[in-house]
Amino acid sequence: MSALPDIRGADVAGKRVLLRAELNVTFAPGTTEIADDSRILATLPTLELLRDRSAKTIICTHIGRPGGRWNTDLTVEPVRERLAQLLNRDVKYAGTVGSEDCRDAVDSLRPGEVAILENLRFDAGEESNAPEFAAQLAELAGVYVNDAFGASHRAHASIVGVPALVQERYAGLLLAAENDALSEALKPTDGVSVAVVGGAKVADKLALIRNLADRFDWILTGGGMIKAFVDAKVRRNEPLSEEAQLARTLWDDQELRRKIVLPAHGKITSEFSPDAEYHGIPIEYARPAGSYILDIDGAAILEYTHLLKNASKIVWNGPMGVFEWPRFSEGTKAVAEAIAGRGDDAFTLAGGGSTAEALRLFGLQDKLNHVSTGGGATLEYLEGKTLPGMAALTVS
Ligand code: 3PG
Repeated sequence: MSALPDIRGADVAGKRVLLRAELNVTFAPGTTEIADDSRILATLPTLELLRDRSAKTIICTHIGRPGGRWNTDLTVEPVRERLAQLLNRDVKYAGTVGSEDCRDAVDSLRPGEVAILENLRFDAGEESNAPEFAAQLAELAGVYVNDAFGASHRAHASIVGVPALVQERYAGLLLAAENDALSEALKPTDGVSVAVVGGAKVADKLALIRNLADRFDWILTGGGMIKAFVDAKVRRNEPLSEEAQLARTLWDDQELRRKIVLPAHGKITSEFSPDAEYHGIPIEYARPAGSYILDIDGAAILEYTHLLKNASKIVWNGPMGVFEWPRFSEGTKAVAEAIAGRGDDAFTLAGGGSTAEALRLFGLQDKLNHVSTGGGATLEYLEGKTLPGMAALTVS
């Protein structure tokens, strides 16, 4: 990926700037109370830069998946309020694109002021990248800034349609920081490099494991997908689930198998519940059907933490078990602590929604070089794909 256009060199004084931010926050169940504001905090440096340079900033974002229709539970209002608190200034509500509210709010913006548009996905044109919708957005401003790393894998109107129409376009500070850290993670290193890949399904991690295996010495595996790997490894003459068949495509590749580390021990249960009784046993004794591996255990934790403590580069995507349940959080916590404990001795990066959540739960989110704000976007970057939102900033 060629260098992204740097906003730090931009003259935006008095200009209208459309800032595509990633403010897709989660709300506490059944409420509009923001459960986690880390995405709002992450885009503050760009907002402050625009304010300090006297830009007239129009923020836009999506929230959730309203499917092209108005949805009162997914309006930007709670985000607008939180932003106003954090910026310690009024953030105007600009309504939906093309509305009278929108024209009024945008026309009345003074240098240094900020407005926010309503949830972009209330209009079906956002996700379909409809030319009329992209044109309406583009008309609002002479400068476009993408700081929405977490949405940059989506070829939507505000991500790819608008930058194709606006001459002056930049990467925001968050997008640039994500690009720097993730590209660093994929570069070769002199020492030992370790990737930790967890998660529920092999299908979601196939491309990731393949790409990381080209660049890392070890791939430590964890989470629900372990079961599929175990079946792929030990049940040579039995019918396999679809997941296990996928795992076998990786396991039967000699080069890959040399790098993939399966946990030696797991916490095996016969029910999927927070209080389930478990047996901490060699993972290969998990029954093919009717059993769950809810965490890594014993020798696996020792082996994983030993490898991590000697690594000079670590990338982590996906928890080792059901870390939200205290009884099954030990493996994820031990891995998180081993990574965080590397301090300045290693380059450490974590990404993916539940991985970031685990780090926050254990109070370790500030101990790594970088914790990515993306979910699918981080995964696709680490899979080696070019994100459409980044490509759209660099085409001439
Ligand atoms: C995310 O939370 O990963 C992004 O906001 C993208 O959301 P989406 O998967 O609904 O496109």
